[in-house]
Amino acid sequence: MTWSRLQSQTYPDYAMSQRMELDYDSANQREVRILVIGTSGFIGGSFRRLKKDMFLCTSRSATSEEIVSFDPSRDDLRRFAFIDSVTHALLLFAEREPDVCAAHPAQTRTVNIDHAMRVIDQCKDIGVVPMFSSSELVFDGVGGMFTEHSPPKPILEYGHQKLEVEQYLLTSGTDGVVLRFPKTVGVIAGDRSLFTNWMAKVREGETVVDCAFDQYFSIQWVDEVPVLVERIASTGVTGVIHLGDGTRHSRRELLDLLWQKCQQRGLQTPRVRELSIDDFAALEKRPKDVSLATARLSRIVNHDRPTIDEMLEKVVVPAGEGQQS
Ligand SMILES: NC(=O)c1ccc[n+]([C@@H]2O[C@H](COP(=O)([O-])OP(=O)(O)OC[C@H]3O[C@@H](n4cnc5c(N)ncnc54)[C@H](OP(=O)(O)O)[C@@H]3O)[C@@H](O)[C@H]2O)c1
Repeated sequence: MTWSRLQSQTYPDYAMSQRMELDYDSANQREVRILVIGTSGFIGGSFRRLKKDMFLCTSRSATSEEIVSFDPSRDDLRRFAFIDSVTHALLLFAEREPDVCAAHPAQTRTVNIDHAMRVIDQCKDIGVVPMFSSSELVFDGVGGMFTEHSPPKPILEYGHQKLEVEQYLLTSGTDGVVLRFPKTVGVIAGDRSLFTNWMAKVREGETVVDCAFDQYFSIQWVDEVPVLVERIASTGVTGVIHLGDGTRHSRRELLDLLWQKCQQRGLQTPRVRELSIDDFAALEKRPKDVSLATARLSRIVNHDRPTIDEMLEKVVVPAGEGQQS
């Protein structure tokens, strides 16, 4: 089924950029300066660690000279003296826990929708390209390997919130980018991402770990995100772009890969108790397969991307060797 047919059937105003099928001409890359809004969290940390002039990091609670204070609920981008040099604004700020969004829809809509729209409006006024951080959770989890052409159909409050902003941005009459993140994972102990959470259980000597056998998703290494963002911005592409490794992983398979790596290093791993994702306590039933196809990203970004094995080498650091910080 073609996208235009899907549009007319199910999603009339969802303006996927007409430029979806452009060739990305590396000769036409331009210099960019990107304001990264809301960097005290997990993905923002990857921009902070880079310390590159190209990325101007903001936070509501600016704690160093390198981080600019900006509160999306009340501040205005136009107050920055340097704003004329900024080409793009990456909106990272959000309440990203689905259960918090389900428990507090009104409060989280204020942050995730109202404040995001507020910043997008400012971007539009000053000619800065907004890049909105959306999520795999705009999909219902049926079928998987969703493309940018697949009609979103959220089943979680968080996914509805993300989709509302996507639609606002894409129909705002300004060039903008929607980055749909899959499960984003890191290698630094304590970053509370998938592998490092499991690794903490190994180090704490837990004997049993519960793991869903029927949940599928793609993954994106967090330290690769700034590279992808820079590349996408500098090529000038707009519209929806899926991030990630373009692969459908089951949670159980990823746990096995980590356990194998631990065992190669002589670490004892907990026994796995298999459950359905439906058996885990959650306010809303989780979508089962939110894997993302990334053909579009592959046409934009052509560097060697890290393999799971390379990254697990970093997650499972032998005792005494320390960790990246
Ligand atoms: N991590 C993932 O796997 C994943 C997957 C899909 C999509 N995403 C999206 O990617 C973006 C970044 O995710 P993340 O994992 O880095 O999230 P995070 O660690 O929770 O950080 C989010 C940032 O949002 C800001 N923030 C949090 N609560 C806020 C509030 N009430 N009002 C205003 N700002 C608030 C904070 O910025 P300040 O520095 O300003 O305090 C914080 O640094 C989010 O939009 C998230 O929805 C993430």
